[in-house]
Amino acid sequence: EESERTDRIEAALEELGDDVVILGHNYQRREIVEHADFIGDSYQLSKEAAEADAEYVIFGGVTFMAESADIITDDDQSVILPSMEASCPMAGMAEALQVDSAWAEITAAAPDEEIIPITYMNSYADLKAFCASQGGLVCTSSNAHKAFEYAFEEGDKVLFLPDKHLGENTAHRLGMEDEIAQWDPWDPAGKDADEVAESDIILWDGYCQVHERFTADHITEIRADHPDAKVVVHPECRREVVEAADRVGSTSTICETVENADPGETWAIGTEIHLTNHLQRWHPEVNVLPLCGEACMDCNAMRQIDPNYLTWVLEELVAGREHNVIEVAPEEKELAEVALDRMLEI
Ligand code: 13P
Ligand code: SF4
Repeated sequence: EESERTDRIEAALEELGDDVVILGHNYQRREIVEHADFIGDSYQLSKEAAEADAEYVIFGGVTFMAESADIITDDDQSVILPSMEASCPMAGMAEALQVDSAWAEITAAAPDEEIIPITYMNSYADLKAFCASQGGLVCTSSNAHKAFEYAFEEGDKVLFLPDKHLGENTAHRLGMEDEIAQWDPWDPAGKDADEVAESDIILWDGYCQVHERFTADHITEIRADHPDAKVVVHPECRREVVEAADRVGSTSTICETVENADPGETWAIGTEIHLTNHLQRWHPEVNVLPLCGEACMDCNAMRQIDPNYLTWVLEELVAGREHNVIEVAPEEKELAEVALDRMLEI
């Protein structure tokens, strides 16, 4: 059945030629990345989208990535997400309306200081637009430290959202770990104006439910079972996990770590399981292990991009029909692009 589906995908791609480019995030299923023209992390995919000439950009990833691709591509290009169910829960943890009202409280707590909002790429276009409107920008896990540096040149404090773990890990990287205040919009006790007034970095209370499940015990256990193992984790992991690891970085840094490993080295991978499985397949000379052996580190949003849906959107394009086109509202597009462009420039 898989070989029949592969034949159908290849036939459709042959028919569509240069009209189509397929971008695949590192967390996509094997059957998707095998057909991708480019595989990468969120930052690399946004750069590829900006440079793509094809009329149709098929995005193997989640909604916020496809939205960003729509913002960055030209108006005559269409971005297609094979499943509309592929929504990252973290992106939903900071809704623009909710941030807008929190912004009034946060800025009132520090009236004499300029706060620059930075949103992680894992957020919707309206929040990106909001950040741009307040002098802020977007970042991904590969350039969060640069976005913070930019913000501290432009203002006095940073509001980082939605991912508190990436925010905390970035504060540590910059030696600013004593400057952190937490802002929990769901808990009245978690909105402390005095803390905001005293701290340079305010972290929104969002997280990735895949990466948050890694614990420092997983690292202790892997080191006990595999004394030679080194550990690389994604910065969406909790602080104590990052502290116990040998290396931390975006999904492309994780890929490079394994690519550059010597044959026979053992690396345990603290990220979404599909990437770990790809790395095992791509680098059989390296001993690649999942940091947590249980089958729990699976991103349900990424998994929604089923190869049958990829077949469907491609065959429909051959028949002249477009489905699942991701279109950001024009009133958000312009400002969201400012926030993305600021990131691409730093
Ligand atoms: P990267 O930018 O490192 O690819 O991460 C994207 C993501 O969603 C991690 O959970
Ligand atoms: Fe969102 Fe986490 Fe999935 Fe990344 S791994 S897309 S942050 S839920």
